[in-house]
Amino acid sequence: MKRGVFIVFEGIEGSGKSTQAQLLADALERKGVNVDFSREPGGSEVAERIREVLLDSELEEMHPRTELLLYLAARAEHVAKRIRRKLFADKAVVISDRYTLSTLAYQAGGRELDTKRVARLCKFASGGLEPDLTVLVDLDVKEAFTRLDRPHDRLEQAGKEFHEKVREAYLYFARRAPRKIRVFNGAKEKMMLHEEIKQVVLNLLTSKGML
Ligand code: TMP
Repeated sequence: MKRGVFIVFEGIEGSGKSTQAQLLADALERKGVNVDFSREPGGSEVAERIREVLLDSELEEMHPRTELLLYLAARAEHVAKRIRRKLFADKAVVISDRYTLSTLAYQAGGRELDTKRVARLCKFASGGLEPDLTVLVDLDVKEAFTRLDRPHDRLEQAGKEFHEKVREAYLYFARRAPRKIRVFNGAKEKMMLHEEIKQVVLNLLTSKGML
């Protein structure tokens, strides 16, 4: 085995992706799997500091290019300082709550930056490291927003129309790469959805000789 397995959770705010990512990490740990779970933006000291700037609702509006580059700066740190080591040295199952597909959905889809350029910069930031599987938890924007009870941060304040574009972009990219990006119905009951996702992941880990 050359490397561990890299799994990413994606979806709009309120879709339940973070809950599902945590449930999966816990379930795999209970099975004795070596799991590393982190989130983006974040996952390393510098990246967590960049996160504070990105999500601070007190700050003035950021230019979309500034925002893009900060997300990518955080990603470069996360990949270089954490993900690569966990994946290649520890051969762990690395679970990241958000990754490149978030940048394509939010900055290209939502903020309407040029998709090809965003994709190229994403590749530069990650050094080309791609997930083995992306779990897209899809949910209607209206329903997702009713689930959000925490104080809204800067991006959540961006409004329904923006998030509709983000959701559409997610689904567009999923249609283009159906084997790498699997879409799950976020409206399903939490534990039922967890079982579905877990089954797909267990099959993947078995096929990679990790179980
Ligand atoms: P979360 O903690 O709810 O996942 O919030 C992270 C926010 O950052 C969310 O609004 C999506 C946004 N985001 C981007 O816009 N681009 C990115 O590349 C990443 C990783 C996150």
